[in-house]
Amino acid sequence: MNILVLGGGGREHALAWAIMQNPKCDRLIVAPGNAGIDQIAECAVLNAEDGSLVVQFCEENAVDFVVIGPEAPLAAGVADALVAAGIACFGPSAAAARLEASKAFTKEICDAVDAPTAAWARFDEPGAARDYIREKGAPIVVKADGLAAGKGVIVAMDEATALAAIDDMFGGEFGAAGAEVVIEDFMRGEEASFFVLVDGETCLPIGTAQDHKRVGEGDTGPNTGGMGAYSPAPVLTQALQDQAMEQIIRPTVAEMARRGMPYQGVLYAGLMIDRGQVRLVEYNVRFGDPECQVLMMRLGAQALDLMLACAEGRLDECRVNWADDHAMTVVMAANGYPGRYEKGSEVRGLDALPANSREMVFHAGTRLDHGRVVANGGRVLNVTARGATLQQARERAYAMVDAIDWPEGFCRRDIGWRAL
Ligand code: GLY
Repeated sequence: MNILVLGGGGREHALAWAIMQNPKCDRLIVAPGNAGIDQIAECAVLNAEDGSLVVQFCEENAVDFVVIGPEAPLAAGVADALVAAGIACFGPSAAAARLEASKAFTKEICDAVDAPTAAWARFDEPGAARDYIREKGAPIVVKADGLAAGKGVIVAMDEATALAAIDDMFGGEFGAAGAEVVIEDFMRGEEASFFVLVDGETCLPIGTAQDHKRVGEGDTGPNTGGMGAYSPAPVLTQALQDQAMEQIIRPTVAEMARRGMPYQGVLYAGLMIDRGQVRLVEYNVRFGDPECQVLMMRLGAQALDLMLACAEGRLDECRVNWADDHAMTVVMAANGYPGRYEKGSEVRGLDALPANSREMVFHAGTRLDHGRVVANGGRVLNVTARGATLQQARERAYAMVDAIDWPEGFCRRDIGWRAL
């Protein structure tokens, strides 16, 4: 079959890498792709957020199945356009994607099914929001309701920070995403990510992971899109996963179906674990980045069969065949990230590195320039390895990092510290 993947980051390189290993895949196109994806698939130029253009591209290229990587095309209704045109796709409708595209919507769903989460309130003007913060006190969490490229959540440890976040959001810093604001109680505990495939009805857990959001070692410094991840996350024990399935995931999926907006795709639950209890922090309606890279490393070719089963409503026939191992990915980012950074520096030494089912360098922000791989974003490479233990995966990943010649980039040297 001919498959199109939408997106061009490390997540999509990992998806493409897993899909290519499956003999069902005859032709793989990734739009826009990047320099790493270009080595294993065809890259195409396409406005991935315009459903009618994506449908037209699929018809012209006889695409049978589309995997939608990022949240923006999902929120824009690209899955709806594909389904209406009779093209199978992996990823939820725009209505169901509100589980990520509206924080208030997710909280309403949690309330409707009594799923454990932080107490919350929504505001569409700053005065009442400020009063609520003063009444509640800090620490407190302020969230722009809409999609804000991962920057719309402020965990305020003092009242002044929370009030400043209200000014920024209602002042237009996040555009329309900040027109409404959700304020939540601060939750203590350890955060981990839980990934569940859903076909509208059946839910199939496919793994756990933990990422490192802060730029600096010891989880210090500003937030980033993620500086590294590993899977499984030992903190999310089987008992806690069962609890999350019973109290949060299955009730959510049932409520979405009841409301006439069945959820299809991967449901990525950010969970807070505290004293043997899980609570929902947030949902995302796509794979995490870089969490996808470690999940794909562990799932391999079966990822395509599972995603097809989601699209075709036959997840009840599937099970996940896990290699009983661990995977870790280390993000190499351009110096200065997440602040100002330069693009265009050459990354050397990649050709000499292994590229197999245990060791892979997934490209995040790269492009080809006269045959050279050059940095083209903040997060540039995801150096990923599997091992019988997390320690072994880590040693393999850092051995590859050390073989990469890129003075203009950096990484954290402590990925996995919590689990190790
Ligand atoms: N790594 C966090 C995310 O993808 O949202």
